[in-house]
Amino acid sequence: MAKEVKSVNYGLEKIFEGAQDFLPLLGTDYVEFYVGNAKQAAHFYKTAFGFQSHAYAGLETGVKDRASYVLKQDKIRLVLTTALTSESPIGEHVKKHGDGVKVVALWVEDAKSAWKETTKRGAKSYMEPTVEKDEHGEVVRSGIYTYGETIHMFVERKNYTGEFLPGYQKWESDYNPTSTGLKYIDHMVGNVGWGEMNTWVKWYEDVMGFENFLSFDDKQIHTEYSALMSKVMSNGNGRVKFPINEPAEGKKRSQIEEYLDFYEGPGVQHIAVATDNILQTVAELRNRGIEFLSTPPQTYYDAIPERLGRFDHNMKEDIEAIKKLGIMVDADEEGYLLQIFTKPVEDRPTLFFEIIQRMGARGFGAGNFKALFESIEREQEKRGTL
Ligand code: FE2
Repeated sequence: MAKEVKSVNYGLEKIFEGAQDFLPLLGTDYVEFYVGNAKQAAHFYKTAFGFQSHAYAGLETGVKDRASYVLKQDKIRLVLTTALTSESPIGEHVKKHGDGVKVVALWVEDAKSAWKETTKRGAKSYMEPTVEKDEHGEVVRSGIYTYGETIHMFVERKNYTGEFLPGYQKWESDYNPTSTGLKYIDHMVGNVGWGEMNTWVKWYEDVMGFENFLSFDDKQIHTEYSALMSKVMSNGNGRVKFPINEPAEGKKRSQIEEYLDFYEGPGVQHIAVATDNILQTVAELRNRGIEFLSTPPQTYYDAIPERLGRFDHNMKEDIEAIKKLGIMVDADEEGYLLQIFTKPVEDRPTLFFEIIQRMGARGFGAGNFKALFESIEREQEKRGTL
């Protein structure tokens, strides 16, 4: 049986008193997926997740080798890109990894300085600072490689008033499903290979100036069958948080190992998106066909009042409503959080989404890890990959 995870001290104060930030980040700018069919993927994210049509680049806008659909919901921007020719590196990426996240773009004041400071500290360059212009002004972008074939782009858009980026047209559609209440990206998690977690923790510290503010080892994160390790990296102002996972030895195959096998390397495991009404958001997502991991057992819900009571928190939400939707609850000194995880959103068991509502808590649901992983293991069992 897994041991209960004790609450932890975040040490965020330490981050704030750190030396001056050589890579000030304003937030996440966009997340770009390379996919097999961007037109259909865009339809899925609009219909099922409630994203809105925002911008487009492709043959109609003079782009010959790719099509990109930009979708928006509150502060979240997704870009879905597909190859138009067989020689395209986008197609190669999809062939190897399946549909997945290629770019985690970060919004900066100065993309030139971001590239200079990170490459000086050992980052491998993906794109030197490049100025892109159109009638709405200019955007400066630069990029570096992170784990696997994943990229961080730095986007400086202070001199730009257009929809998205130069080269994109506003995308207006007659088909406009309503929002599901998703607000912003709370965190994005990367899976890296055996024994590589600390290498990437050090990389985020040295190259990006991030700090490790929360760690879980395999003694904390395990079930009867499988285990993993995780460290949460945060930038100085706490707006960008990247937990990093690696597999650990267990009786059976870790879910991280399953991901690495099917993605054929390290990559983004899940995107956590925040809502301020998780009951409404999850009910809506379920109605639109999003599949979530199975609901924890009754014993899990029976234990919730005690878990919150330990920290003197009262849950505003009705426990029966939470249970009916399969939402999980965790608490720490500062508050509580509500969260739920989708099943993978493509055929390979790789990328999935987390829906999260923070009610003061700044953690990641460590108290739910056991219930969550047992649920994932039930899925692995069905796939024959446990
Ligand atoms: Fe998460």
